[in-house]
Amino acid sequence: MWATAGRFYKEVINLSDRIGNYKDLVMSAEDAAKFVNHGDRVGISGFTGAGYPKALPTAIAEKAKAAHAAGEEFKIDLLSGASTAPDCDGVLAEADALRFRSPYNSDPTLRNKANAGDILYQDIHLSHIGQQVEQGFYGDFQVAIIEVVRILENGNIVPSSAVGNNLEFIAAADKIILEVNSWQSENLEGMHDIYKIEKLPNRQPIPITEVEDRIGETFIELPSEKVVAVVETNAPDRNAPFKEPDEVSEKIAANFIHFLEGEVEAGRMSYDRFVMQSGVGNVPNAVMAGLLDSKFENIKAYTEVIQDGMLDLIDAGKMTVASATSFALSPEYADKMNDEAERYAKHIILRPQQVSNHPEVIRRIGLVSSNGMIEADIYGNINSTNVGGSRIMNGTGGSGDFTRNGYITTFVSPSVAKDGAISAIVPFASHVDHTEHDTMVIITEYGVADLRGLAPRERVERIIAVAHPDYRPMLEEYFNRAMEQKFVHTPHDLATAFEFQRNFEEFGDMRGEQK
Ligand code: COA
Repeated sequence: MWATAGRFYKEVINLSDRIGNYKDLVMSAEDAAKFVNHGDRVGISGFTGAGYPKALPTAIAEKAKAAHAAGEEFKIDLLSGASTAPDCDGVLAEADALRFRSPYNSDPTLRNKANAGDILYQDIHLSHIGQQVEQGFYGDFQVAIIEVVRILENGNIVPSSAVGNNLEFIAAADKIILEVNSWQSENLEGMHDIYKIEKLPNRQPIPITEVEDRIGETFIELPSEKVVAVVETNAPDRNAPFKEPDEVSEKIAANFIHFLEGEVEAGRMSYDRFVMQSGVGNVPNAVMAGLLDSKFENIKAYTEVIQDGMLDLIDAGKMTVASATSFALSPEYADKMNDEAERYAKHIILRPQQVSNHPEVIRRIGLVSSNGMIEADIYGNINSTNVGGSRIMNGTGGSGDFTRNGYITTFVSPSVAKDGAISAIVPFASHVDHTEHDTMVIITEYGVADLRGLAPRERVERIIAVAHPDYRPMLEEYFNRAMEQKFVHTPHDLATAFEFQRNFEEFGDMRGEQK
């Protein structure tokens, strides 16, 4: 057994019942890593800390380190569903084994190297990446590494706790390495709904009209001739545990639920069968805890990740069904899922991310989205990704898929970060992921700024009202100054538009020198 961050890899158990007819290809991760070479483009399973390969990344990292020690180059391009975990992105970044990474990352080592210019990182809408792989924008894929629960007797595979872009990587790659992870419950079989979106000009409507609709198979067809190695693992998914909701996130959650109740009163929603999408984090978790005691019943989720709070809602009989592409469960809840996957399979559907995040389905289903943000400006442009305009935090993830296409789209955030040194509301967003045309509602612990139906100048007062009181006078001053400019449709004073961000750079506090 060897320890990783407080959890343990158990000894690999006999997997004979999980590897179908591939016994001859079973080998160690080190041997399988021989199929991965410098300059390769590699597509892996995994989305958040779930369903990613557990053994090959370390083996590839070791291979890179050995090559570097011998004065040779070794770097690969790595594409996945979304972020992974320290034993994947972390070890590869640490070993300088990555040239290019897409479409999402939350690993701090990789983030630092991307910000230092050592790794090229492309973050794009999670619904787009599969299609762009198919369109050939990334070039050829030499290898796909896919974690599976089981290889079926007929050679098809049951994916594990994330579906992500498995279909696209399997189709694109010359060679396929399968990691069969016996930590993953065999009862995940049946939870997946694998549907392939046809290429143009044969594309048909995706036939999901209700969240619970199953439209595909429970397995992925595998081109057996491409499989070069099967590696046995027994290793846990690795999502960080959530913090207990603090006072600020509880206030934001209360504001969010109060806002939803207002929507019901206004006749735009019902207490019965409201559909949610939720980003990951402490605020969304507090929202889900709030929903447990709310008037909402038969809640559904059409989202990209299944979170702890959704299992609680299912257990309480408040949520009937949750559709996503992966789990983002804390270690405790991941164990719970493994113990009770058979029961949860009645309520949970895991789809390819092109489907879980598909604009067509999102628009039809009419969901309420809520995602975090780095900053919003006084007109509603949202920066989800780049601190100070140029330092990547995580990535846009699925936030654009859901925000552009949701029925009601909200951004939820504490009004300040870093003990008040950073305001989440600024005069001008230093990077824009979601434009003022996408943003409907911004919610902080100070209230709800409902921007629907308002022209840019009309939004300002509402947005400033949800800023932290320390920053409201500075924001008002800025707006008044901007109003003195020649053109005032969307008033800006370009000379001082980034004063908040510049103050932070210079003084370590957006309030500037006086602080
Ligand atoms: N400037 C600098 N740092 C900021 C910041 C800002 N304006 N706003 C937040 N942060 C920092 C926080 O201080 C915190 O850093 P720490 O971990 O060092 O303390 C970190 O960002 C996370 O912030 P937190 O307030 O805990 O919120 P979060 O966990 O919800 O993360 C985002 C906020 C924006 C980083 C996160 O929501 C994100 O990556 N969003 C984009 C992708 C997305 O929306 N995914 C879901 C789509 S389905």
